Amino acid sequence: MATEAIGSFYLMKCGTVLSIIAVLLAYWYRAPGQDVHLDGRLDAVLSSLLRAERKVGIGSFARPRVAVGFGGCVDIVVDGVSLLDKAGVLPSDRPLHHDFIEDSEQLAQSFAYFFPPGAASERFVVNSTLFGKLVEASRGVPGNRWSVGGNALVMAGRMATEGCDVLLGVSANPDLANVLSGHVTVAGNRVEEPDIHLVLEYPSGAKWGRYTSRRANRYIIHSDKHNPYLASMGDFEQKIRGFQPDLLIIGGLQMMDSFPFKKGEREALLRRLSQLLSSTSQDTGVHFEMASFVDGLLLVELMERVVAHADSLGMNEQELPNLLSHLRDGNVTVLSDPSPRVATVLDQMRELYRLVNERRGKSPSSRSLTRLHVHTLAFQAIIVAHGSQWKNTMSATAKASLTANRHVCGSPDINPSKAKLILDESFSVSRREGSQRIMLQETRPVSCWDEDDYELCVAPVLVCTEVHQTAGGGDNISAAGLVLQI
Ligand SMILES: *[C@@H]1O[C@H](CO)[C@@H](O)[C@H](O)[C@H]1NC(C)=O
Ligand SMILES: *[C@@H]1O[C@H](CO)[C@@H](O)[C@H](O)[C@H]1NC(C)=O
Ligand SMILES: *[C@@H]1O[C@H](CO)[C@@H](O)[C@H](O)[C@H]1NC(C)=O
Repeated sequence: MATEAIGSFYLMKCGTVLSIIAVLLAYWYRAPGQDVHLDGRLDAVLSSLLRAERKVGIGSFARPRVAVGFGGCVDIVVDGVSLLDKAGVLPSDRPLHHDFIEDSEQLAQSFAYFFPPGAASERFVVNSTLFGKLVEASRGVPGNRWSVGGNALVMAGRMATEGCDVLLGVSANPDLANVLSGHVTVAGNRVEEPDIHLVLEYPSGAKWGRYTSRRANRYIIHSDKHNPYLASMGDFEQKIRGFQPDLLIIGGLQMMDSFPFKKGEREALLRRLSQLLSSTSQDTGVHFEMASFVDGLLLVELMERVVAHADSLGMNEQELPNLLSHLRDGNVTVLSDPSPRVATVLDQMRELYRLVNERRGKSPSSRSLTRLHVHTLAFQAIIVAHGSQWKNTMSATAKASLTANRHVCGSPDINPSKAKLILDESFSVSRREGSQRIMLQETRPVSCWDEDDYELCVAPVLVCTEVHQTAGGGDNISAAGLVLQI
């Protein structure tokens, strides 16, 4: 026992020293002329990704039909630090996680918790007076922008842009409905006042009091009145039968998180959604776009009522450990490394894929999970089961990666001078000792390989360096990945 412990201690120390040497060597090796070398590499990676994206067409015979639920809102996008200054919310010395926000002190603590690591977050503000004041303050922040947003709405927009006919479940007022593409049909009751989401964006290196953000991201607050009730579900349910979609996407359910429902209300809504999903034709693929959840009980219900009926899941680097820790340990991780290594993410994906499918084995009514897409700042990774209906995984991973840059830079044309590669020149496929390393090839940047009963593809992201907007990125990226796979 003792020798073993000493042995592993020695190995550990040795490993640390070795990796320090490796880091130093890498630095020394790459420092001179690094930019020249990287620029050439960037151009090659970009043209190869574009080639991979163009390799497959969308809906060569008819436009694919996609139904997307639920919700939509008006996004007010502002510089987060300017808004807090304007609203008189001072930096808090106590970074703290709150499930929901009751007053400006909690807002300051919560922002101080997510801003330094640069982790995406979304919180419900219970106090509508406070929320109203923040919305008012946002109007005076220079550069504030209004746009339509919300997971389902963004995904619907992207699908329509990519050539699909879309049925969108959203409670909308005519203004909201009017800005949607002609290929989007709205299913849902009419509302006078749309829900508003305040999107506090911040660039990498932003300062707030003594805090500095490590990467660009956003902190979203809302005080939704319609979205948590999935108010469009009834109409959506009726129209979906006639619509006969190839794909049904569910997202936006985090609006139910920490919302003050009356007893039993949330359960009833999710039961109804579960019925909708389980009665969906097997010819229709079902995708669930995860979000960050803090309410463990809601996660339990989501697993049973929604995830169990999905063939495909999409999520970011925060949501992956969030769901995984829930499945494995029964607890909720609210903050994880915002820039994880490829090996770490792939291990988490394998485990999630296995755990979800194991649980399904026990329940005959559920589908098997055959697709898992994880989007991170530095790379995209997609698992697709062999023999499943999902096509073109390599091209889909490339498209997801390109969409990340297009969205964040706010332009369909990718400018290499506003992009950088942050993925290393090679990555390990697992944290297990002796795992294979894969070199990033500039002319074939998407690496795909087979494991067990699935294929895994990883593509580097050309990370946008002049951030226009991060919010809605995950939805655009997930939708772009899906559109080539149906
Ligand atoms: C709600 O917010 C307002 C405005 O910031 C504040 O004056 C009030 O105390 C808050 N109410 C509660 C219950 O925290
Ligand atoms: C969750 O539980 C596991 C096992 O009990 C523990 O190792 C982990 O630290 C916990 N995570 C959180 C976020 O509480
Ligand atoms: C992401 O989706 C929104 C809503 O559909 C759209 O306005 C925005 O332009 C999209 N981003 C990209 C890169 O297409």
